[in-house]
Amino acid sequence: MQDYLTLSLQAYWFAPPVALWRAVELRAAAQETYSRPLLDLGCGDGLIAGILFGPDGADAGMDPWEEQVRKAARSGVYRWVQRADGHRLPYRDGAFSTVFSNSVLEHIPNVAPVVAEAGRVLRPGGRFIFTVPSDAFRGLLYFSHLRRTAGDERGAQTYAAEVDARLAHYHYHTPSEWADLLARGGMTLEKARYYIPEAVEHLWDRMNDRFGIGRRSLWGILVSPRLRAFPHQPLLARWVVRHFSRAWRPWYEMDVLDGQKGGGLLIVGRKEG
Ligand SMILES: C[S@@+](CC[C@H](N)C(=O)[O-])C[C@H]1O[C@@H](n2cnc3c(N)ncnc32)[C@H](O)[C@@H]1O
Repeated sequence: MQDYLTLSLQAYWFAPPVALWRAVELRAAAQETYSRPLLDLGCGDGLIAGILFGPDGADAGMDPWEEQVRKAARSGVYRWVQRADGHRLPYRDGAFSTVFSNSVLEHIPNVAPVVAEAGRVLRPGGRFIFTVPSDAFRGLLYFSHLRRTAGDERGAQTYAAEVDARLAHYHYHTPSEWADLLARGGMTLEKARYYIPEAVEHLWDRMNDRFGIGRRSLWGILVSPRLRAFPHQPLLARWVVRHFSRAWRPWYEMDVLDGQKGGGLLIVGRKEG
């Protein structure tokens, strides 16, 4: 298997906690097989599909965000990239063998029609493979855990609500809720696998506090896109990759133990017929 920790740190050096989450996510996603033609639903800039599938590794990518669509089109990962919304996919029925969607569905408040659209564009026997933060995500936040163990349940909930707002997360469905949503889209739940064990989510939450993007901090200034032409950034990028690919390796390699939940959930749905 590829070293997704180093690859993610190279891609997201300016946001090391994002790289950590993505690396563990990629390790989980890489355990699946992806038949073509393949659609990346909510492809963003194509970085994740580029790491997972390689150049020309996907057929179609779509996203409603214009700037991301332009980046995805330049990535060399997709044959076609379109600006579109998951509620109305611009593809014919049964066009794909796989629909992949990484860290997208949690950002869509009314997700049922999007799941149904994924089902519509899949051919019979095709698979919808997606990752989302899980039903355990809120409970595994480090700073919620700190408040809860100090007896401050209200503080724990307030902190989790702040994270939801910051990350624009609208829901955290359980595997059986996903099974219902898949069934409404003509699919059956084939697999539900948790990733991001508690220790990894704790580290991720603590590191967001230190390296969170979009914050007013020394780190935020140093990595600002406005300073991309300055020579300190390549040095900083090299330091991040070298330092964290060693320091975070034990967390990257952790699995969720049998019978436990993790902060991330990988779901595989199969189109009936
Ligand atoms: C966290 S990003 C993930 C991007 C990419 N999949 C990745 O893993 O890097 C979430 C993406 O979901 C897209 N998105 C939000 N609402 C959507 C919708 N209704 N239909 C399709 N994509 C949507 C956003 O534009 C954004 O690119």
